[in-house]
Amino acid sequence: MTTASPQAAARALFTDLTGSEPDGVWSSPGRVNLIGEHTDYNDGFVFPFAIEHRTFVALGTRDDAVIRVASTFDTQVVEVAIADLDFPALRETVPEWATYPLGVAWAILQGTDAAPAGVDLAIASDVPVGAGLSSSAAIEGAVASALNDTWGLGLDRVALAKIGRKAENEAVGAPTGIMDQMTSMLGRADAAIFLDCRSFEAEVVDLGFSAAGLELLVIDTQVSHSHSTGGYRERRDSCELGAATMGVPALRDLGVDDLPRAQELLDDVTFRRVRHIVTENQRVLDTVATLRAEGPTAIGDLLVASHASMRDDFEISVAELDTAVEASLAAGAVGARMTGGGFGGAAIALVAHEKVDAVRDAVTAAFAEAGFGAPNIFTVTPSEGARRDA
Ligand code: GLA
Repeated sequence: MTTASPQAAARALFTDLTGSEPDGVWSSPGRVNLIGEHTDYNDGFVFPFAIEHRTFVALGTRDDAVIRVASTFDTQVVEVAIADLDFPALRETVPEWATYPLGVAWAILQGTDAAPAGVDLAIASDVPVGAGLSSSAAIEGAVASALNDTWGLGLDRVALAKIGRKAENEAVGAPTGIMDQMTSMLGRADAAIFLDCRSFEAEVVDLGFSAAGLELLVIDTQVSHSHSTGGYRERRDSCELGAATMGVPALRDLGVDDLPRAQELLDDVTFRRVRHIVTENQRVLDTVATLRAEGPTAIGDLLVASHASMRDDFEISVAELDTAVEASLAAGAVGARMTGGGFGGAAIALVAHEKVDAVRDAVTAAFAEAGFGAPNIFTVTPSEGARRDA
């Protein structure tokens, strides 16, 4: 199918599937995180923004109680009776991409006695998959918004974010936090979301990148990652062990003054995991304060310190991400760091407008020299969260 936009692609797929027009189209964005990595599931602070890449869902109701999902990711159409929506059991029988929309439908119906109409859903997206830009939260946000409106559930944006996380944790099986879903629901043009992941208080903070002559570059290393297995879960376990040993509900409750005691009580690896979380929480607070007091050009050193902490203490970077960060800084970026869960995915670089080409060329050359596959480099703009488009 050659269509101009993911919105048009979702509509066209819907029409192919059903022979009719959808009742509506909803969308929700991917995100980059400016700073605050792996702090969300430690009840801490994050500072992400939604990007212009979005996932669109075209929806039409049916006169039976069946959910049918189609997507441009796959030719398979998946059909499940609402009465048979049962996770994690369904994970064994449906393709992985379908666990996201079906998981949201399952999660949104938990605890309600609604007997909703069946729906056809057609999904298309331009959020790069596996790049650490929250393609999963974008699907979850779009589907949750579409079902909430269609089924008249009246859930607010924070409730919809929690539905997305429940789908991700219990249906897909990835033990992630709440950052991505909250960002996808709450995103605003030209602003980032300063989120307290304990209280769910969210403040919209103007970024002022363009007024300062800055652009945010995403360097997608094309090293794909998954958070369903392995390293992400291990990091989460280490954080829980660290908090339990230190006698606090979550690592959020420790400050940098507690680190000497943590070093005495914890094994070296757990201590370094804890040190990353504690210092990263502080860096989020410092970034927001610095941005407000001095503007975005002043936050570069905090981004660089965050990357070093993820590379050395949390150990979630990979050689491609380190190369992206080092080459960006050497070519004059104000700051750079990996973004998202790690083990692959993307780095971000904050770059003066006139240096964008130089940074892009330097990173591309550094990748070639290291023998890595070519990265995908593009700028992103802080954008609006989930919405109904049509
Ligand atoms: C992934 C998860 C988020 C968060 C980040 C790391 O994106 O989905 O909840 O933990 O990793 O900051």
